[in-house]
Parts: sequence; structure tokens; C-alpha cells
Amino acid sequence: MSDTIKIGKVTIPRTAALAPMAGVADRAYRLMCKRYGAAYVVSEMVSAKGICYSDRKTAELCTVTDEERPMAVQLFGSEPDFMADAVKIVLEYRPDIIDINMGCPVPKVVGTGAGSALMKDVKLAASITEAAVRAAGDTPVTVKIRSGWNADGINAPEMAKALEGAGAAAIAVHGRTRDMFYSGESDSGVIRAVKGAVSIPVIGNGDVTDGASCRAMYEETGCDLVMIGRGSYGNPFIFRETEAALKGEEYIPPTLEEKMRVMLEHIRFIIELSGKCEELAMHEARKHAAWYMNGYYGSAKFRGRCYQLSSYAEAEALAAEFIELQKSREINNA
Ligand SMILES: Cc1cc2nc3c(=O)[nH]c(=O)nc-3n(C[C@H](O)[C@H](O)[C@H](O)COP(=O)(O)O)c2cc1C
Repeated sequence: MSDTIKIGKVTIPRTAALAPMAGVADRAYRLMCKRYGAAYVVSEMVSAKGICYSDRKTAELCTVTDEERPMAVQLFGSEPDFMADAVKIVLEYRPDIIDINMGCPVPKVVGTGAGSALMKDVKLAASITEAAVRAAGDTPVTVKIRSGWNADGINAPEMAKALEGAGAAAIAVHGRTRDMFYSGESDSGVIRAVKGAVSIPVIGNGDVTDGASCRAMYEETGCDLVMIGRGSYGNPFIFRETEAALKGEEYIPPTLEEKMRVMLEHIRFIIELSGKCEELAMHEARKHAAWYMNGYYGSAKFRGRCYQLSSYAEAEALAAEFIELQKSREINNA
């Protein structure tokens, strides 16, 4: 097994990539995940039409910094012409890869015929991909899909084959149908079937939450790369953990002190990169702070307090109090 994979001209370590997550995996988040070993990252989804009408958020969403590379910018849309024009605009930001979202289940996106609605129209999905590939030149175009629209319409292998024919350089598969949204279990059998159907790289995604599940995704599906979404919430360390598991090395999880230090670093990144005043940036930081505190004694109460944070100094004080609480509990239990 090679240590790297190639998507078009782009070389990616064969460990674990960060999944695109709108409203979560912004630049601060991606940089934290890169720091802990994410092999590859993808931007939050961007509307192809929005870009063509020069949406003010375009630069914020499409900018690729060198520390994030290799990185894809992800587009969603339902019209080949808009997709091609959007690709040309995005190329100015020099992404390593352009990814097309054909998996988003949200009604606002599906209602426009984009995201996972395209799982129901393989021909249109292929036309959109073909238009993007033609516009992208030598920048590889990949597509992220679901297993199908619903349980009666599992068509990821057929869809992947059509997209390969349209010039896609890799396919990422989330093993849930659109109807499942994010509940139930991701089906690794579908990812294996996609791997059997195409000769381009296949990226396996869904429910990878630790080293063991990452190994299982590789072994059960034969995929070329694993992609992790929610398992990285408050846990950029997962990329170090999965890398250790894949190499058969021992993994030493972070101490609570290290976690709180990294949480504060993440919050500083959010304040620095959001372009907002500290108080507004803290609104974005709240959920991340709460995720870093998951799984400890008294977490529920502290998570509630995270949602009140309005300054960095308050976050620092809360982290110190949280550490003290765990220490005093250890002493009481000894
Ligand atoms: C909050 C959130 C936002 C997401 N945004 C996107 C997105 O912008 N583009 C996309 O292709 N998938 C998006 N997804 C789906 C994830 O990339 C991934 O496919 C899904 O969460 C399953 O992987 P996981 O079990 O590792 O989380 C999103 C998921 C979540 C939870």
C-alpha cells in the first residue's frame, strides 16, 4: 500500500482528510486540523451562482492559504454554465482541487436542484461535472456524493461511473442516502461498491470517529483515502490519532491541559481570521469551545457556559475553571 495517493497532479498523504462542513470547517478550523495532520482539506461549500453574481462572501470562502494546501474549494450548483463560470472565477484563488457538492441534503440547496438532488439526475450531474472539468484545465475536479437519494435509489456506483466518464479525478462517497440526512449508520458496503465500479481514487466518508474506525474504513471499503467530518469537532487531534493507528504506532491522547490550550489557540485563530470584532467572533467560537469540553465531568454545565462567552478573557477563565474542576474531582476520587 502506497503512503500517498494522486488526485490528478495533486499528491496527498494516505492518512485522513478533513470533510467540507459549512458553518464549521472555516479557515481557523482547517488550520487547526492541518496542524494535527489532516492530509487534505476542503472549503465550506460555495454557491456557483452566488460566485457568478459576485457574492461578497466569495473571497472569504474561496481563499486558499499555503498552510492549508493541498486544499479543494467546493462548489454547489445545478446549471453547467454557471458551474463552468464559477470554476473560472475560483481558479483565481489557485485551489489545488475543485470539488463539486452532490451530497448536501439541506432543502434550501436540494430545492434548487443542487447538492444531493443531483443523485436523482445522473445525466445532469455528469453534464455539470463535464462543464467544470473543461473550465478547470489541469486543476483536478472531484465530486462528493451520497449513497443515493433514498433506500430505494442507492445508485452511488452508477453515479460514480458516470462522473468518471465526465472527467472527475476522484469521487468522495458519504455512505448515507439523502433521506437519512445525518442519522442512522453510514453504509461502507456502498463505498466498497463504488471502489469496484471506477478506476479513479475513491474517498470513503461517514462515521469515522477514531483510529480504529479509520482503519476499518480503509479495510472494509478498499478506499484510497478516508475523510472525517464530525469526528473532528473539538478534536483536531483525531488526525494524529488516525495516522498513528494506520502506522501501527502508539497514540497518546492529549491531556486536558493540552486540549484547553489548543481550544484557546483555536479561538485566537477565529478572532484573528474572522475579520469581525472580538465579541462577534466569539459567537462563532462558542460551539467550538463547547466541543472541546465534551466528555468530561460537568461538561454539560460548562458547555452551556460556553454559549455565553463574549470575550477571549472569559474563555481563558472558563478553561482554567474547567481544568480546576477536573483536578479537584481527581483528588476527591483518589
Ligand atoms: C455541519 C455540517 C456541515 C456540512 N457541510 C458540508 C458541505 O459544505 N459540503 C459537503 O459536501 N458536505 C458537508 N457536510 C457533510 C460532511 O462533509 C460529511 O459528508 C458528513 O458529515 C459525514 O461524515 P462524518 O460522519 O465524518 O461527519 C456537512 C456536515 C455537517 C455535519
